[in-house]
Amino acid sequence: MSALVVDKIRKSFGALETLRGIDIALESGEFLVLLGASGCGKSTLLNIIAGLAEPSGGDVRLDGRSLIGVHPKDRDIAMVFQSYALYPNLSVRRNIGFGLEMRKVPAAEREKAVLEAARLLQIEPLLDRRPSQLSGGQRQRVAIGRALVRHPKLFLFDEPLSNLDAKLRMEMRTELKRLHQMMKTTVVYVTHDQIEAMTLATRIAVMQGGQIEQLGTPEEIYNRPATLYVATFVGAPPMNLLDAVATGSGLQVVGSDTAIPLPPALAAALPRDHAVKLGIRPESFRAEGGGLPLTLTCDVTELTGPELILSGSIGGQRLVATLPPRTRAAPGETITLALDVEALHLFDVESGRRIEAA
Ligand SMILES: Nc1ncnc2c1ncn2[C@@H]1O[C@H](COP(=O)(O)OP(=O)(O)OP(=O)(O)O)[C@@H](O)[C@H]1O
Ligand SMILES: [Mg+2]
Repeated sequence: MSALVVDKIRKSFGALETLRGIDIALESGEFLVLLGASGCGKSTLLNIIAGLAEPSGGDVRLDGRSLIGVHPKDRDIAMVFQSYALYPNLSVRRNIGFGLEMRKVPAAEREKAVLEAARLLQIEPLLDRRPSQLSGGQRQRVAIGRALVRHPKLFLFDEPLSNLDAKLRMEMRTELKRLHQMMKTTVVYVTHDQIEAMTLATRIAVMQGGQIEQLGTPEEIYNRPATLYVATFVGAPPMNLLDAVATGSGLQVVGSDTAIPLPPALAAALPRDHAVKLGIRPESFRAEGGGLPLTLTCDVTELTGPELILSGSIGGQRLVATLPPRTRAAPGETITLALDVEALHLFDVESGRRIEAA
């Protein structure tokens, strides 16, 4: 039995259809990330699971029990929001234990739960401070502690790290992953940050326009994106997309004499002269070694430290390659790189869908 089932969930605000039939089934202990651009419906879906909003149709089940009509506080779900509004006049200890205090949990039991959460979050020395005496990351930990003490069946997080600076975000990300590895509670986590999604998730649901574009493991989302949208949303620098035409045995890059041979099974899936988008991740190029030689014109090089980002073009189509830092490439010159043909992606121009071998 799946721990969490989201079954054909729909939500309309007046004439606006915000969720257009969402289906998800999660095993116990999974970490699902809802990933998508602003306005795609992530928070709406999370709020429906939490019971803060009613769906227009569909069902949500937790351990087999329908949650529709169940009061939020009776759902055995804890939610952490982006704005973690702590009580300014209460100590960290009382902030963490506040929910338990409201539920009239005896003081000794409360103290035990608070100490346990503080230990997990490594904020034991801060228990007697006020929120104003904490850093942003420490406040975020207190907000998470408030959810932890409840030992819920399900944790919901809505962009919990977006108020933190870049360095702290990275630290807290690792911290969340560590916590999840220890607690093994099922999590649904909302973000528009693709690195957060890739690093934290056991599975990612990429959402667009109130629908799920693709639901899969981080590896599946990255290595076999189902649509052009997913292909360009995940990955930085984003996947290169070149206009190309099927030749029967391979592809011709539009505007150039560059021909790309394809594995026979893939070539067979393409009618001759069919227009496609050829997707190449920037890291699929090599400066030397085996692979299909591809000659491009170099426009700009940027050294980031660990790598060199080369921007160039083939037949007037723009292209980015990430290469080892010592690669010799000068603006205005041509450079021949080796392409890993195993790592190519093909998409239908009209439908935007991935093309697979026949
Ligand atoms: N109470 C509401 N009344 C009317 N429209 C709403 C309401 N709540 C959300 N919407 C609309 O539904 C759509 C999805 O909103 P939602 O908050 O779920 O997006 P999101 O994916 O969480 O975006 P963000 O990343 O900006 O938080 C948006 O177009 C939003 O304007
Ligand atoms: Mg939101």
